[in-house]
Amino acid sequence: MARTVSFRFARSAAVLAMAASMCLVASAQRSSGDPQAAVNAAYQQFKGLTEGKNADYIPVLAKVDPNLFGIALITADGKTYTAGDVKTEVSIQSVSKVFTMARVIEDEGPEAIEKRIGVDATGMKFNSIVAVEMAQKIQGGPEMNALVNPGAITATSMVRGNTSDAVWQRIITTYNDFAGRPLHVLEDVYKSESDTNQRNQAIGMLMYAYGYIKDKPAQATDLYTRQCSVGVNANDLATMAATLAFGGRNPMTGKQVIKSENVPYVLAVMATAGLYDDSGKWLYHTGLPAKSGVGGGIIAVSPGKFGIAVVSPPLDEAGNSVRAQRAIQEISNALNGNPYAAREEAVATTGR
Ligand code: DON
Repeated sequence: MARTVSFRFARSAAVLAMAASMCLVASAQRSSGDPQAAVNAAYQQFKGLTEGKNADYIPVLAKVDPNLFGIALITADGKTYTAGDVKTEVSIQSVSKVFTMARVIEDEGPEAIEKRIGVDATGMKFNSIVAVEMAQKIQGGPEMNALVNPGAITATSMVRGNTSDAVWQRIITTYNDFAGRPLHVLEDVYKSESDTNQRNQAIGMLMYAYGYIKDKPAQATDLYTRQCSVGVNANDLATMAATLAFGGRNPMTGKQVIKSENVPYVLAVMATAGLYDDSGKWLYHTGLPAKSGVGGGIIAVSPGKFGIAVVSPPLDEAGNSVRAQRAIQEISNALNGNPYAAREEAVATTGR
């Protein structure tokens, strides 16, 4: 009897081991899987998805073609995998906040951002004024971060330069280096947002009143508006994401854009607050530091593996592109992009 039991046990253990090794092979095939196949599959799966709505509080954004849909993924060796329209430009909007924050971290050190603005999620909308009030020590609320409007306008005010032009050159040169090509402001977007950004002007003044912004708050809000109006396509955004994925080195141009030791600080804030009040949900499902913009772009970074970007203007309630979230999640999971997931090799080595 005991022999039969142990034989049965041995046999089922062998079957289990075989099944486990088949799973390992299958998932190893998936992880080393074909990025182009994953990109194509997501494009096909989501191109008919019509949920969400273009942003319209910046009037010109309502006129952008809601059918625009492009996916680009870039690996360490600069290989680019695309589907759909990766050439048409949209305004970078809040995705810009990542790269201005990166500039400030690079020039002033990571503690400058941490001390002046904070690195915590507000749990509130990206242009919340209540979040500013709550961040006052006496209120006992959480700090802010450089990816919501009050923190982003403050970060812009921290970029070096004696004149508005000098600050702007420093900002746009940083974006160009991340994208690997010269980018330009979409003047119609800049005008439309400048005409309607009274709330951001108020936020800039409030941040000045509370001492976060030290000088020239109107200039900071204006330059912030200008940085949000820079035109980018899915390829540009993927290159910017890939530069963060590969230690601050642009895999297309080979240029070291920011020091590798500064990259984890940038990624940490993206993970904490990149998709605003939905950042936790996003991280739960993907594990990827990411950033969205109301122009319809989202970038995401799988450190050491790939940078990915999707452009699709219709947004959900939180202000994040519906198709971009779905496509990135699908592609990253197909390629084992989640940095928190146990690697097959580690599982195989420990034998568990
Ligand atoms: O300040 C604004 O309202 C826009 N320029 C940017 C907002 C944005 O992209 C938030 N994104 N989800």
